[in-house]
Amino acid sequence: MHDERDLRKPPDADALSRRDFLGQVTAGAALVGVGLTPPGHANEQAPQTATPTAELTAVALTVNGTKHDLKLETRVTLLDALREHLGLTGTKKGCDHGQCGACTVLVEGRRINSCLTLAVMNAGKSITTVEGLAKGEELHPVQAAFVKHDAFQCGYCTPGQICSAVGLIAEGHAKTEDDVRELMSGNICRCGAYPNIVAAVREAQQTGRAVP
Ligand code: FES
Ligand code: FES
Repeated sequence: MHDERDLRKPPDADALSRRDFLGQVTAGAALVGVGLTPPGHANEQAPQTATPTAELTAVALTVNGTKHDLKLETRVTLLDALREHLGLTGTKKGCDHGQCGACTVLVEGRRINSCLTLAVMNAGKSITTVEGLAKGEELHPVQAAFVKHDAFQCGYCTPGQICSAVGLIAEGHAKTEDDVRELMSGNICRCGAYPNIVAAVREAQQTGRAVP
């Protein structure tokens, strides 16, 4: 009578695997015994390397008119400094690679992708995020135009779209709807609200203040 194991394996399979196993264990034990590492095994005796302590640098960021004294690693992006260190989460992280525009903010009035610049590179400069556009209860004209034209669906891209539009209007190069599409092409909207976004930007161009 055969058990299940006998039916599935060649007659001496268990014996072979036991032999191989014992051979490997014995060889490995011998190598470890003389202070060598068996092939394919991590050296468990390797000394632990200490995790280096991150060096922090003093960075003064002026955001929406308020100066903030931070201590950051030099590798921290402006986007992460805004979101993680200042709690200004209006600025969104979409791709973190300069491809979507969700992180657009204004630095000295010029629109930039905050995921592509380091916080330390922007020390002492005037940074404006979407939180800094409204004056109290009064929306910035671009914000008001976005609401009026229903220029968003999920809203994730919207802070970047609005900051980008404010920068575009200040640049003064967009004369037509096609210009607006071209000059806003770095701001991706996965919901496809582009017709409404263009309409909102065009109206804000006519009626609103262009600078933050
Ligand atoms: Fe910066 Fe996408 S998050 S461009
Ligand atoms: Fe959803 Fe633009 S409104 S991504």
